[in-house]
Amino acid sequence: MAELAAADAGVLDEVRDGLGRAPKELPPKFFYDERGSELFEAITRLPEYYLTRAEAALLGRWMPEWLGALRPASLVELGAGSAVKTRLILDAIPAAQVYVPVDVSADFLESTARRVRGAYPGLEVRAVAADFTAAFALPGLPHPTLHAFLGSTIGNFAPDDAVALLRATRARMGTHDRFLMGVDLRKDPATVEAAYNDAAGVTAEFNRNMLRVVNARTGADFDVDAYEHRAFYHRAEHRIEMHLVASRAQTVTVPGAGRWTLAAGESIRTEISCKHDRASIEALFAAAGLRVERWEDDGLFAIVLGVPVLEVA
Ligand code: AVJ
Repeated sequence: MAELAAADAGVLDEVRDGLGRAPKELPPKFFYDERGSELFEAITRLPEYYLTRAEAALLGRWMPEWLGALRPASLVELGAGSAVKTRLILDAIPAAQVYVPVDVSADFLESTARRVRGAYPGLEVRAVAADFTAAFALPGLPHPTLHAFLGSTIGNFAPDDAVALLRATRARMGTHDRFLMGVDLRKDPATVEAAYNDAAGVTAEFNRNMLRVVNARTGADFDVDAYEHRAFYHRAEHRIEMHLVASRAQTVTVPGAGRWTLAAGESIRTEISCKHDRASIEALFAAAGLRVERWEDDGLFAIVLGVPVLEVA
């Protein structure tokens, strides 16, 4: 127990709120401690998980053309993770002076920042450890700034929440800045389901790791091995849902937050991963004060460049 960090009030509130719902849920940001971030990196290399390879190919193909004339002076990246794909952007914007990776996993963020500094000696790297679903402050940045949100992380947000996140991003942008996003497209459900049910079981471990994170952050007593991974495509909502299913009746106590029981077979939803098409992205952008300036896709995955529109009240 010596390693137990004091749970901050925000985390306890989120756990209490999520477990208090019917059906129960926990927010996907709890996947990403250092181990969770490493498991996610392993997911990106799985044969079934086409998303990362598709996005990297699109970025490699289009960034020089999209960004060559724009010449961003700074790059802000939401959910930077290991910043592997970031290099495909940085290589296309040699004039960039500042890179700001924003990530919820502080340890992982520091090693990412160190690696980018090593690879781009002229670049100032100013890591921001923050939950980008909440308000956070950016350092003053040279313009134009490119705000990047890669990996289809937008999919973790149902449409209303996605609009709120895009609006908050739009609010940090000047009129000459740009927003670059990667988004997974609607397709044959079997292809999507395979990507979230890999044969090697890495996604299952990633999913279960959330309970370890919650235990470590709150002192909760989730019996991690008593939960099974389930991921399925919800056709009407165009999204993958990931759940942890209690393999037998469970009680979990979260000190200072409460105690909950789960029946055998009851599940906790840990993630939604919404899939989009061009029309659904245009609608999200429009609601957030952005316009689609460029779009490229390979049938599986899309990259999109957004530009702020002057909002009419
Ligand atoms: C990082 C949110 C884009 O939804 O595909 C991978 C996370 N979950 N496998 C996704 C994830 C299960 C990923 N995002």
